[in-house]
Amino acid sequence: MAFTPRVFSGMQPTGNLHLGNYLGALVRWVEMQETHDCIYCIVDLHAITASWQDPNELRQSIRDVTAAYIAAGLDPKKSILFNQSKVSAHAELAWIFNCTARLGWLNRMTQFKEKAGKDKENASVGLYDYPVLMAADILAYRATHVPVGDDQKQHLELTRDIAQKFNNDYRTQIAEAGYADGQFFPLCDPVIMGPATRVMSLRDGSKKMSKSDVSDLSRINMTDDADTIGRKIQKAKTDAEGLPSEEAGLAGRPEADNLVGIYAALENTTKIAVLNQYGGSQFSTFKKALAELAVSRLSPVNAEMRRLSADPAEIDRILADGARRANEIAQPILLETKRLIGLDG
Ligand code: AMP
Ligand code: TRP
Repeated sequence: MAFTPRVFSGMQPTGNLHLGNYLGALVRWVEMQETHDCIYCIVDLHAITASWQDPNELRQSIRDVTAAYIAAGLDPKKSILFNQSKVSAHAELAWIFNCTARLGWLNRMTQFKEKAGKDKENASVGLYDYPVLMAADILAYRATHVPVGDDQKQHLELTRDIAQKFNNDYRTQIAEAGYADGQFFPLCDPVIMGPATRVMSLRDGSKKMSKSDVSDLSRINMTDDADTIGRKIQKAKTDAEGLPSEEAGLAGRPEADNLVGIYAALENTTKIAVLNQYGGSQFSTFKKALAELAVSRLSPVNAEMRRLSADPAEIDRILADGARRANEIAQPILLETKRLIGLDG
């Protein structure tokens, strides 16, 4: 079966979204909404996997992330925006895929190893199972394209493995049901593109910019005001040399590479174009320009987020409407999945 192109992606409602989320994912999501049917989820069931969340804060975070999605340019009329826990097909399909995925596959997931740290015995089962729920998110809509940052590559490979094994495990039933090429679930394509698929910490160019970094100076939050953005960029770690004129000159200089990548992504251009302009400059000059650019891009988003957050009832209405539309797509796919398995008696 030729699958209708469909985009699915999601973010966790835990803490503030940051520049990595914005450049690595959101900007791409907004672009894809012009050319594809898109479904963008707030993955609240994933949010409770790593640590206990205060219920009031979680409720608030779901609304805040929805506001960030819309402020960044997602249009709830064009795209479906909803939170995961409102569409039960995600959890149900995850259970089915728990019986498809193999322990050996999950044991290879590097994100679990990073997040669980040394105390693996004390990690939640949900944290371990997180990638299976992610596969269910995507396959509940038979999505074909998944725009994410670089860190999600391995999870998407697992999603493809699950789809392929399911298609193979039920190949007879799938053929009988008339799927000529034996494909019930698509093997989705990761969309990992642009100069900022992996935005690094402003304090340490070898670490990913992350919500969970203890130092707030390591990241630019989407809620930071202009002064804070300026200060964080000014304090960003650099090396003693100026900016090179060629991309090769960024090799082995992770902090310089990161700042140039951020500039390129914010300006919607390439690193080499940025170096053509700033090659030979001191970091002080470049950082000033970068701060101005970051403020000019993020301030309007920030203001819109605040405007939207003042009307939580409107956000709840958007999420309810999105959940209704998401359910309409996911329910028939779940029913058909159950029928293939023999769970339709
Ligand atoms: P998370 O915050 O883990 O829910 O991530 C949401 C989305 O943002 C995913 O597509 C991630 O790949 C992306 N993302 C998170 N951190 C970064 C980063 N430092 N650079 C680029 N993309 C990121
Ligand atoms: N695991 C993703 C992250 O942390 C979030 C996510 C959950 C997701 N389900 C998804 C992303 C489905 C893309 C598609 O960034």
